[in-house]
This record gives sequence, C-alpha cells and structure tokens, in this order.
Amino acid sequence: MPARSPVTHPHVDDCLSIRDGHLFIDELDTVELAERFGTPLFVLSETQLRSNLRRFDAAFRRAWPEGPVDVLPAMKANTNLAVRHILSSEGAGADIYSPEELDGVLRTAVDPARVSVNGGGKPRDHLRRCVAAGVRITVEDVGEIQLIEQVAAELGRTARIRLRVKPALPNLWRRTDFSQLSVPIDLGYQVYKSGIPAEYLVDLGHQAFAAPHVELVGLHFHAGRHHPSLWFWQGMMARYGRLIGELSQAWGGWQPEEIDIGGGWPSPRDPHNEELPRSEFVTTALGYPFLVGLRGLGERAYHAALARIVPALTSHTPRTAPPAIEAFAEVAVRTLRRELHGHGVRTDGVRLQVEPGRSLFGDVGVHLARVKVVKRQTRPIPYVWVLTDTTEFFLTGGRFEHSRHPVVVANRADAPATLTADVVGQSCYGDQIVLGAKLAEVAQGELIALLETGAYQESSASNFNALPRPATVLVNGSDAEVVKRAETIDDVYGRDVVPARVRTRPAGGASTEPAAASG
Ligand SMILES: Cc1ncc(COP(=O)(O)O)c(C=O)c1O
Repeated sequence: MPARSPVTHPHVDDCLSIRDGHLFIDELDTVELAERFGTPLFVLSETQLRSNLRRFDAAFRRAWPEGPVDVLPAMKANTNLAVRHILSSEGAGADIYSPEELDGVLRTAVDPARVSVNGGGKPRDHLRRCVAAGVRITVEDVGEIQLIEQVAAELGRTARIRLRVKPALPNLWRRTDFSQLSVPIDLGYQVYKSGIPAEYLVDLGHQAFAAPHVELVGLHFHAGRHHPSLWFWQGMMARYGRLIGELSQAWGGWQPEEIDIGGGWPSPRDPHNEELPRSEFVTTALGYPFLVGLRGLGERAYHAALARIVPALTSHTPRTAPPAIEAFAEVAVRTLRRELHGHGVRTDGVRLQVEPGRSLFGDVGVHLARVKVVKRQTRPIPYVWVLTDTTEFFLTGGRFEHSRHPVVVANRADAPATLTADVVGQSCYGDQIVLGAKLAEVAQGELIALLETGAYQESSASNFNALPRPATVLVNGSDAEVVKRAETIDDVYGRDVVPARVRTRPAGGASTEPAAASG
C-alpha cells in the first residue's frame, strides 16, 4: 500500500494542494513564495483561518443550541496582529494570558466582553486595565478576588470574573501526550500549575458573592491537549460538569451564566508529541541498558546493531487522523450538559465559551526553509542529515511539545519519499527539527516545507546564535503580503546597551555597533 502523503489532509477544507509537483498554499506556489520573500519564512492562509473559525463556531452552535457560543482563539498560539484583526472581523473573542497579549488584542476591534484574561500572578495594574477595558477576568489565584474588588471599586466598575477550576481526573488513565514519559493524563494534568485547587473554590465563591464590585459569572477549565480522542473530552467534561454541580450546590443553587471549556483539541495533522515513537522500548528505562549492553559484542558488531536499531528509534508511522471538530463538539457538549442537568444546573441561556489554539491555527501555516547541505556518513553507523536554513529555535513551540511536523520537499511534493534523514536546522545545537524524516531524495537549494506550523511556532521563536527571526506572509487566494517583517541584525542587537567604559573598537575602524545599541 503506498504511504499516505503528508500533504493529505483528513478534513474537507484544506489550503494545501500539490500542483505540477509543487506545494501550493491557497492559489500560490510555495516555491515562488520562497523566491519572492526569502527563506526561512512563515506562511499563513487567511482562507484557512476564516474557514476554521467558521467551522468551529458552527460546530459548537449546533451542539449547544440552548445558549450563545463564543469562540475565543488563544492569542498565545498566534500573536500576529493581522491574524487578530481577521479574527475580530469574524466576531471572535480571545483567550489571552499576559498584559502584552491584552495590549495586542485591544488594538483590534475585539468585543471586550469576549476576551478572557487568564494567568496566575496578575499584577495590580494589569487587573486595573482589565476592569477598565471590560474584559472577563479568569481568576487563578487565591488572593486575586480581593485585588480585583479593590481596583474595580477605585474605578467604580463591576468586574465580571470566572474561577479557573482544576477538577481531579482519575477517570483519565491513558497516558498523557504532554510527556515523553508514560504517565496517566490525571498525573500529567495535576502537575500543571494552572487552575485553582478544588479545596479553595467554595470559599472563593463566597468571597466573590460578598464583593460589591465583583460578579461571578461563570467557571473556566482548560487542561490542554493531553489526548487526541473523544474519550478524553468525554472524561474531562464529565468531571468538569460534576464539579460545577457540586459548586452550585455549595453556593446555594448558584447558576452559571457562562461556562468556558478551554482548548486542547488536536490540529488536523496533529504533530503533538510525535518526536520519537512512543514504544515502551524507548520510553522505559530498558532501552538504555540494552543499548549499552550491546557494546559487549565488540565495536563493529555494536555499531552494526545500532545501525539497525536507529530506524526503530526515529522512524514513525503516522497516527490516524484525529476526529473532526464537529465530533469533538458534539461529545464534549453532550457530556457536559448531561452532568450539569444531573446535578441540577440549568443550561438554558448559558453562554458556552471555547478557546481553541492549535486546532484553529495549526493547519493555517507552513514554514518554508531552503536546503543548505545534504550530509551523509556511512561509518560507524550510516546517517543522513538535511541541513536547512531555518532552526528549531524558530519552531520552539513544537520543540517543547516534542512535535513532529510533516515534511514535504515543496518543489517536488509528489516525488516518492525514498530518503530517510534528519531534517536539521542551522544553529550550533543538534537542532533536530524532524528525526528520521521520510522525504524525497533532496539536494542543496531545494525547498522544504514543514506543515502544521501555524500554531505556537512563530509566537515562540527566539534568536539563538543571533539568528534574525523570519518574516510571516499572509496568503489570501492569489495575494500574498508580509504581515510580520523579518528581523534585521540591528533588531537582534538593538536592545543591547554597551557602557562606554567597556566599549572596544575593531582594529583600525569605527564602532560597528548599530546606533540603537551603542548606549
Ligand atoms: C487557558 C488556555 N486556553 C486555551 C489554550 C489553547 O490550547 P490548545 O492550543 O491546546 O487548543 C491554552 C493553551 O495553553 C490555554 O492556556
């Protein structure tokens, strides 16, 4: 059976296609985009973004007819202001975390009532700005309500708050994808810092009811993408619904006006935690002693054995595609509603909020990189590296999550994948972007596309090795515009201040420091 092309998209709307062997995004050839805008390059599809958002919205409206639905895309996943303007023009709100994200989102015509401000340790001036702007505040800390009451009283406003809860999830026993180790989701989630521990919630509710400038409008729960299954959402919503019911009872029959179920749905090609195959051989302690023990065979035999084992460590069988968002919406909402009704909580008129990140932005973007060198060795173990002009430091979101992004040779996207190689970046680290990638036999100068890079990558890129971060281009049908320019070397050194007493000059020349950096 022929291997499935990584370009194949499991869902109906897809901005990627292969035409005459070239990878296209919308109506544009990625090969031409790379020539026009240079590499490395982030490319985003506006049509995919709008279509994903509308689809999300429609799926949850269908599943939750009893009240309004707000889609609050997670700003952290993609902080481009052009993207934010598009989302605001579609009526979307935002899940934001930092004061700086709040600043960004408020620059667009977002409805503040549809902005959820999350995050622990919110400083007083941030809370003041939240109350003044009229956004929702998602309370994370035990002392936060008192602080909100103070700033709201000073401003003569009422702050609308939700408590971010942290239910126990012992029913979620499968292993979490948030770790390369095999631990149950329940444990993976419990060690996650966010959310108010259950023991404080009842008291915090009473604090909110007693605070004249605070209104507790609802509850919030976000666990993250621990598992790409309907089973996971069923389990989470069962425990969340039960906790809401228990709180409602403890608070004398309190009824939520809104319920936020957070994010955590997989993106369509779902690269999360695929860096290494998660066989027990790799993830348990047995693998290491076994490999070391092989040295007893003598050096030649040891390396010969390693050469056979390496593909098992790095190769990868694509997972089956995750369910469509419509299926997630249906299961999550049905389970939540059942639990709420079972615990005497009404759902009529209740506003449902969802905060998609990766599932909304992932397939909106591709990352283009040029092949600098193809390097091969035959001894002591055969190995091939495809060295590109990008770096894992521009794709950091994926690194933290051990993601394995599908790779395509964009100028020969329909060529058979006969080469097994590590696609690596140009920094001095190992910079392993995709270990053991299967791709077409590739040569210097050809173009690599890393798919499913619209979420978290560009927003967490850094400047290791003083590499300027790449530009982002927004494609809309046949148009392409830069929405974030590439950094220059002056941007990279622009924050540096060199005190006069340590300043040196290059032999025989004037200072080469950029003006902004000269202190
Ligand atoms: C509060 C909150 N909501 C939503 C999201 C988006 O998560 P995801 O990208 O898994 O959908 C995050 C991500 O960390 C988050 O912290």
